[in-house]
Amino acid sequence: MQPTDSCPICHRRRFLRQALLGSAAFFTVPGAFAEQLVRTPRQTEGPYYPDQLPLDTDNDLILINDGITPAVGEITHLSGQVFDLKGEPLRNAVVEIWQVDNNGVYIHSRDPRKAALDTNFQGYGRFLTDWKGRYYFRTLKPVHYSFRTPHIHVAVSHNSKRVLTTQCYIKGEPDNVDDPILSRVKDPRARESIIIPFEPIARSEAGELSARFDIVVGHTPEDPKEDTVRRRARDGRLRPGGGNRPD
Ligand SMILES: [Fe+2]
Repeated sequence: MQPTDSCPICHRRRFLRQALLGSAAFFTVPGAFAEQLVRTPRQTEGPYYPDQLPLDTDNDLILINDGITPAVGEITHLSGQVFDLKGEPLRNAVVEIWQVDNNGVYIHSRDPRKAALDTNFQGYGRFLTDWKGRYYFRTLKPVHYSFRTPHIHVAVSHNSKRVLTTQCYIKGEPDNVDDPILSRVKDPRARESIIIPFEPIARSEAGELSARFDIVVGHTPEDPKEDTVRRRARDGRLRPGGGNRPD
């Protein structure tokens, strides 16, 4: 059978294969850019890092394994590059994201809103950066929950150490102004670096969005109190630039 856009399983296979190819146009190379680097500010991990990893931990959060029912919400192609403080791409870094579904619910078992969970949303994904430090996720535009302005949690690990925990935000979101977590970042350039545009993709009939979040990390491990879930997430089987094999 020839793959078609109407076949979700075919779409998913092509997605996993073409994830980086399709987003290559978004990437730049360091150079003059390196002189303007702003170290990505650390933000709290919060209480909802998954207490149990989902069955699927790849970089497509919209479909779980070979499911045919996509998560509900505004599909967003989130991509970027991870750099060190010299502006060199950080290869083989594990980028993890976790966020709420379109109902404002995390996959965490103690989320008080869990009765409203969209069970088709993966809620968590990870990606091993390629030689240019690139990563890519297909996920949802985050929504409000509780007192928080919309955000996506992001963690970066390198050489088996967590080197950054942060959150990224939607540019133009009115509630960014008084969000208590975002407001902890006082430096204007640092604050600006974690607020990113979510822009409509031209000619996308489904209204999909594109967002780019470049990340600059130091080499000093954060030394969080790692538990089994975090170690499994970081050290699970991954291949550079291609998400990960199902396990
Ligand atoms: Fe959160």
